[in-house]
Amino acid sequence: MFVKVLPPEVVSKISAGEVVESPTDVVKELVENSLDAKATEVVVEISKGGKRYVKVRDNGTGIHPQDIEKVILRNATSKLEDEKQLYGISSYGFRGEALYAISSVSLMRLKSRFFQEDTGYELICEAGNVREKREVGMSVGTSVEVHELFFNMPARRRFLRKADTEKRGIKRLLLSYALSNPGVGFTLISEGRVLLELKSEDYEERIGSLFGEGFELLEGEESGIRVRAYVRRNEQKSESFIFVNSRPVFNRNLKEFIRKLLGYKTLSILYIEMPPFMVEQNVHPKKHEVRFVKERKVLEVIRKALTEKGDNLLYSDFLSQEPPRYGEEVEVVGQLMDALVVVRIGEYLYFFDQHLLSERINYERLPQREEGAQIACRSAIKKGEPLETHQILEMVKEWRKLRNPHVCPHGRPIYYRIHMSEILSKIDRNL
Ligand SMILES: Nc1ncnc2c1ncn2[C@@H]1O[C@H](COP(=O)(O)OP(=O)(O)O)[C@@H](O)[C@H]1O
Ligand SMILES: [Mg+2]
Repeated sequence: MFVKVLPPEVVSKISAGEVVESPTDVVKELVENSLDAKATEVVVEISKGGKRYVKVRDNGTGIHPQDIEKVILRNATSKLEDEKQLYGISSYGFRGEALYAISSVSLMRLKSRFFQEDTGYELICEAGNVREKREVGMSVGTSVEVHELFFNMPARRRFLRKADTEKRGIKRLLLSYALSNPGVGFTLISEGRVLLELKSEDYEERIGSLFGEGFELLEGEESGIRVRAYVRRNEQKSESFIFVNSRPVFNRNLKEFIRKLLGYKTLSILYIEMPPFMVEQNVHPKKHEVRFVKERKVLEVIRKALTEKGDNLLYSDFLSQEPPRYGEEVEVVGQLMDALVVVRIGEYLYFFDQHLLSERINYERLPQREEGAQIACRSAIKKGEPLETHQILEMVKEWRKLRNPHVCPHGRPIYYRIHMSEILSKIDRNL
């Protein structure tokens, strides 16, 4: 019907490697299949971190009765027909590898009812062989149960990671797909306990449900590349979720690039969208990485979106480390260890790194930003230089005009601030 086995010339172009090495990989592949099938509800159940079983149920389009036995064949897919399509992939899957790989190393039960049919079909497989096929009553959609992963490969089974590690991996994975598919409801149940329950919502609501308030929205668009980033600074540790056309990606360089732009203690959720032909998805067997056809351009659009403030600062009221408003009283407290500048601005006490502050100011003055960071650094005030009160005031005045007052050109935070009430409460004092 819709599912076909890919011809060898296409198979040979697909980046090869193990698709399924852990229960987390199983969940990833099954959830991607549910999302590709346009599900609006995905329920994942696991036991022993997925080592005993993984069940994924969805309300997507279902599998046509004539395809149900084909889907476990190697390279059988409904998402790709020829190699040309490899350059414009918009589905998560395209290689027809997952159900084949999973079914051959587990006891698998696949149930599916196609949306135009009145009944569903169930397939029971053992190590890739169909043991039983029968008609079953069920609602439209698909359910896949994977029991005893690697039961037939004892060495692989023995070397699986701890159940807790897998459980955490699975939760984090679902978090990712939930962030990129806010319209889909997700539930995660482990040993009968609900670990995650998300209703269909929009992007902002989804981010709020998972991480709470306090995000700033930074946006940019150029040459068909669109970037939207939700950013919250001054977190305990930095964390970023990056999506390219809704696919979670883990490109190391991209992560580092973003970390440098936003600073180290930042939680960021970055959505990058561009026409499918500009992204090569077929570079990693598990599709963890993508390659951009115009990488420099993409990085440039990201840089602009994340560092050049426009009118797009949304939730600035929530921003915990927001620069002070104009007109607030400034009181220079002094300098510490010839390295830190201490200033009270309004109700906050600020600790600035004098070098980074001066560097940022120089940097934003430069007409050419490309190689600017080095020049800005060389001409900046150094650690160890004593400063007069008027110099400090001057720097603070300049700081308030910066487009990015939070981090130096290399991404390190420029200041730390603390609310006066926090200090006063420690000494039981009101002013
Ligand atoms: N949850 C699902 N809902 C509908 N169809 C599915 C589902 N899971 C798998 N399929 C069908 O089985 C085929 C094979 O799946 P898979 O082995 O993951 O390969 P791929 O996703 O790369 O096509 C898919 O192309 C799709 O037609
Ligand atoms: Mg798939």
